[in-house]
Order: sequence, then structure tokens, then C-alpha cells
Amino acid sequence: MANTDDAPPDQEAVRIDAGGWGWTWAADTEGRLHQVGLGPDGADASVDVEAIWYPDSHPTWGGPDPYRPPGLRITHADGTTTTRLRLDRVDRQPLGDDESVSVCTVDESFDLRVRFCVTTHRASGVLEQWIEVDHDEGGPVVLWDYDSIAPTFLVGTDATITQFGGAGWADEWAWTTERLTPGTKVLDSLGGIQPHLQRAPMLLLEPNGPTDEHAGDVVGCSIAWGGNTRFALDLRPRANDDRGDLRLRAGANPLGAQYVLDPGTTFVSPTVAWTWSTGRGQLSDRFHRWTRSRVLRDPDRTRPIVVNNWESTFFDFDEQRIVGLIDRAADVGADLFLLDDGWFGTTSPRDDDTAGLGDWEPDRRKLPRGLPALVEAAGERHLRFGIWVEPEMVNPDSDLFRAHPDWVIRDRRAPREHRNQLALDPLIDEVRDFEVGVVDRVLGGAPGTSYVKWDANRPVTDPGSSALPADRQSNAWVDWVRATWEVMHRVAEGHPDVEVMLCASGGGRTDHGTLRWFHEFWTSDNTDPVTRVRMQWACGHWFPASAMAAHVTSWGARPLPFACAVALSARFGFDLDLDALDDDALTVCRRAVAVARRTQDLVQHGRLVRLVSPVDGTDRSRAALGFVAPDRSRAVVFCYQLDDPLSPPAELRITGLDPDGTYTIDATDLSDDGRSLGAASGAALADGAVAWMADEATTARVIELTRVAAPD
Ligand code: GLA
Repeated sequence: MANTDDAPPDQEAVRIDAGGWGWTWAADTEGRLHQVGLGPDGADASVDVEAIWYPDSHPTWGGPDPYRPPGLRITHADGTTTTRLRLDRVDRQPLGDDESVSVCTVDESFDLRVRFCVTTHRASGVLEQWIEVDHDEGGPVVLWDYDSIAPTFLVGTDATITQFGGAGWADEWAWTTERLTPGTKVLDSLGGIQPHLQRAPMLLLEPNGPTDEHAGDVVGCSIAWGGNTRFALDLRPRANDDRGDLRLRAGANPLGAQYVLDPGTTFVSPTVAWTWSTGRGQLSDRFHRWTRSRVLRDPDRTRPIVVNNWESTFFDFDEQRIVGLIDRAADVGADLFLLDDGWFGTTSPRDDDTAGLGDWEPDRRKLPRGLPALVEAAGERHLRFGIWVEPEMVNPDSDLFRAHPDWVIRDRRAPREHRNQLALDPLIDEVRDFEVGVVDRVLGGAPGTSYVKWDANRPVTDPGSSALPADRQSNAWVDWVRATWEVMHRVAEGHPDVEVMLCASGGGRTDHGTLRWFHEFWTSDNTDPVTRVRMQWACGHWFPASAMAAHVTSWGARPLPFACAVALSARFGFDLDLDALDDDALTVCRRAVAVARRTQDLVQHGRLVRLVSPVDGTDRSRAALGFVAPDRSRAVVFCYQLDDPLSPPAELRITGLDPDGTYTIDATDLSDDGRSLGAASGAALADGAVAWMADEATTARVIELTRVAAPD
């Protein structure tokens, strides 16, 4: 559109109505696409031909704006490094209330096509976007940058981003907010298999400065990719203007991952899911709704109360010890017993993490009657049974590695071990079959098992695949993700009734792409309840609580009632040595299970309302959040005092209720059965009718609210 007086015909405007917001692209007279609208009214933007500048819709290296980093950079078959795209056509396909749109462009000088693909989900307001590239040049082309989206925002001086980065294992979801300054800020992750231990693939952008739960522009963006990811934020100030232009590029991390694309084949980038909302509360409503509709398996099924043995036994157990724990799990009222790592390995028994991975036969020294005896023990106590697997990995000390040393991911050097293990290469056909077969065999050998924890405990450090030729080694980073997803897809199809937890050294794989074949993820190995409140707060911006597994453990040595209250605000379970608990502690566990029975449907399927933040402001010593039934007839609120209070507690304003309804109020700190606090209207509760009660560090209150039926 730059410097042209020719108004493009409106049919050349591509308008995307994302549901409450959207964007418009328009082609100039030469067919170059520009972003002419973005935001709440973005789909209705008028194409202002008098404007002298519009940003490129998706900048290419050598395109109209040569001064800024591109979202697409390609070396063509003849060595040309620039790409200039022209609109060819727009394909639109209705999908019920939604549509799928493909904006098809061609290079002006090469036989190369780029499609900008969009699927709407208007019920939530989350847009899915990705790009596709194919060509018929005389030889392969190389894709150096291939961002899935690259919109531009007009931002104020205090444009703010929040990233969710950890310092690695046990530090997922650390919340960091910062003001953007001119230049390019890159937020990336590496590690291939568990990159989200470094940084979750989600970003909050507040283009006009910090917002709150209810007001202000918030853009949320999630890269639905099970590999390395990258956000790049290029902020260019405007001359003589307080504002600036911010380009957000998001997609797979191209570092070391240039993709060699043969003629006649198609490169498909990861999908990026994003939305523009008013206030952070709406952002979470949207992501939760979209995650339930388009991502999670069996979203309406209430998840079980799980007892896991990992932190109580680690690798050191036998049948008697496990049956003892199953007994206790039944005693406290759980639904499912999950047997973790250490149950397998024959010639190389899995007594620690140095041996056995890859050999998925039960260790008869520990389990003389195999897994069926445990499934039966659980069944007799009316518990379901679940099992831990790590199908993508191998210890060098294993029969599998001795038989197939060439099955691992490695470059030409000796492979480096991480947690004493190597990653299998899913680009090898037999490896994919083997990995699917691991789950088939384990489940087949333990009929009745209805839950699997799928773990992956090392990153990729030395990229290389024997399945790829020398000049395609860098394709592995992208191809591994797709090959792994193929395995996960086959497992999900083969076992439709088995619930599957996704785990990678904790929350190393918490992305909306991989989660499509799972029911939930292990949020972090860090289960210190104080840290967990903050982790779950951050993670809950993107995922419904049903997806976030949270188990009561002894990590941090916090009071048990407090630990239970924290786990109760996500998918609840225990990873405690229930056998070692005294009667008082068991009573607390039983009480927590009783609360879970009354509230997990709300926590897992209700609407999240965040009330007091443990990550914003100066006093981060407390947190409160609630879950409200869709018809607002019931709610549960969790209040946590994490540290010694830094300031007197603010009023607890419980929002999201029916203002005209009257609610009975029951509260417990889980050290006793709690008490009634009378009743109040939804309006009064929103106005602070309930005082903050959790006054001491590491105490909590669980407040249950039930609307009293209105008299006829
Ligand atoms: C990872 C998981 C843990 C546990 C161990 C077993 O670290 O995150 O929950 O399953 O592996 O080795």
C-alpha cells in the first residue's frame, strides 16, 4: 500500500474475524500484502489508501522493508537469498461457525509458493495460524527463518511482555514481566525434547502497558510445538512520536534448524495460537475454552484422584511395598494408583537411572508376579491402575542398546549421555514402531491398566539422524517433532480409553501441540506448595486446571493441610509415603479427598477467576483464585498465605458469582472439617464480604460457595 493512490479493490482485503478481534491484510497494486488492521476492530479496518505506510503482513528477507528481521528467509535453488511474495489467491472454507483461510502467495521470480494459513475458533477467540511453503525450483531450497506469525502492533512507551521461563529442571513457569525497549528481544528455547524446562512456549504481550484481570489490551500467544521455539520482538520507535511499531515473530526456533526443502514437497510450520483480549481474565477464558475444544483429549471427563509412588519409593520397592501403598491409596479414597519408574529391566534391572531404559519387561526380583498382580490388587480395592513409561529413551546399559546401538539420536561423535540415557531417533522407522510397541506391550501385559504416564527425561544435545542424508541433518529438529507426534497419535488411536499424562522431567513438554494426544501434564517435579502456587498461577493462564497435575508431596516440608490445599486447585493427587503417615496426617488426606470429591468438578470444568496475585505488585506473599460453575450455582475459592504477610491483607473480593444470588459460605483450612460462615449475596462477596482468614505463612483456606435456591 505504500505511496500509492490506487485503492485496491476490497476483495483483495483478507479479513479474519477471529471472534471479538481480528486482522485485515490487503494487497497493494503489485500484490504485496500489508497488515492494515489488527485488534478488536481489526477485521473491519478500512483500507486507507492515503496512508503512507503499512507494515508487511509477514516480512521476507529482501521484501519491502529491508531494515528489519524477516519472518521468512529462504535461499533459493540458484543461491538467491531474497524472497518477494505476491498475492495469488485466497481460499476460504467454512467450518461450521468457523472457517479455514489460506492466503496463497507466489514469489515474483521463483516457482515457490507460501501459504499463510488460518483456522478460526470464534467461540473462544483463539486463532490458529501457520505457514506452508512448497516449490518447483530446479533443486532444494533452504528455509532459514520460518515464523508462523509476524503481526505488527502499534505500542505505547510502556509495552510490556511476560515470559514463563525457568532456570531449568524444577523451575518451570517462573513469571518475568519486563518493559520492551527498542531493538530485538529474543525469547527462545533449545533442547529438542524438553525445551519448556527453559522457557514455556507462551508469551503475554500488553501493548499499552500492564493490565489487570478485567481491563486493558492483552495479547496471548502460544507456539503449539513440541520442540525448540522462538519469540522475537522487534520494537522500532517512531520518530517524534511516543509510540513504536512492534513486530512479534513466533514459531519454531530456526537456530541450527535450517530446513532443506526438496521440490514437490511441502514445509508446514508449527501452529501458533493467539488471541487479543480485554484483561488477563478474558485471555485465560479464551485459552481454556480453546484448549478444551481443540487440544485436550476427553476434556469433559473429570480426572481421577491419583496416588503415585515416585517420591515415596523412587526405584526401591517390591510387590509388597506397592500393594501396601495401594492399600493406603484406597484407604484415603483415591481413584487410581500410578506405578512410576523402576518396575522394569531384567538383564539390566532398573535399580537407579543408570540401567534398564528400553527393556520394558517387569523386573521379576521386585515384581515376581509381574504387573497383573498389581492391577488385580488395585482392582480389588476399587482403584484403577496406571503405569510409567519412557518409550523414547534408552540407557546404554540395556538389552535394547546392546541390540541397536545405531537407534539413538547422535551426531558423528560419541553420543553424550544425559541422566545416563540417550534419546531414540524417531526418524528411524523401526524406532517409531518400537516406541508404539512399548505402550502396546506394557498395556497388553497388564490388562486393565487405564492410565499411562509418558515421560522423557533428557534433552537433545547432539543433533543428528542416521535416517537423514548429510545435507539434511539440520531438518531433524523439525522432523523429530512430527515423527514423535506420529508415535503419540498412533498410541492415542490404539488406546482410546487410556488416560495419558505428559511428562518430561516435570513440565518440559507443556505445549498445546503435543498435548493433543494427552489428557494432562505433570506441571513440574517441584511440588513445594509455595512454589507451586506461583507455577500453577502462571500455567493456569494457558491451561485449564484439569490439565495441570498437582500432587501432595513432602517437598519443602510444608504443613500437610497447606500442601493439600495447593494441590486441590489443580488436578489433585498424592505422591506421599502414605504408609509412613500417622493417623492425624491420614485424616488430613482423607479430608482433602472429601473436598476434592466436592470441588474437583468445579476446579476442572469451572471458570477460573484470579483474585489475589502472587506474581504482581509489591506484596506477593499471598494468592487467591476461584473456580465458578458455568451456571454460577457453586464456586470454590482457594486462599493461600505463602510467606509472612508484607502488608495487611486486602479484602477478598470474590468475582464471577451471580450478584443477585445468595450463597452459603463454608471454609476449611483442612486441619479440621471447617465451619459455616453464614451466607452473602454474590454482590456482597464481590465487595469483600469474606475477610482474609489465612493469616500465617503456609496456611490456606478452601471456601465453598453454594447458591441458595431462590424462593418460588
Ligand atoms: C521424571 C518425572 C518424575 C518421575 C521420574 C522418574 O523426573 O518428572 O515425576 O517420574 O522422572 O524417573
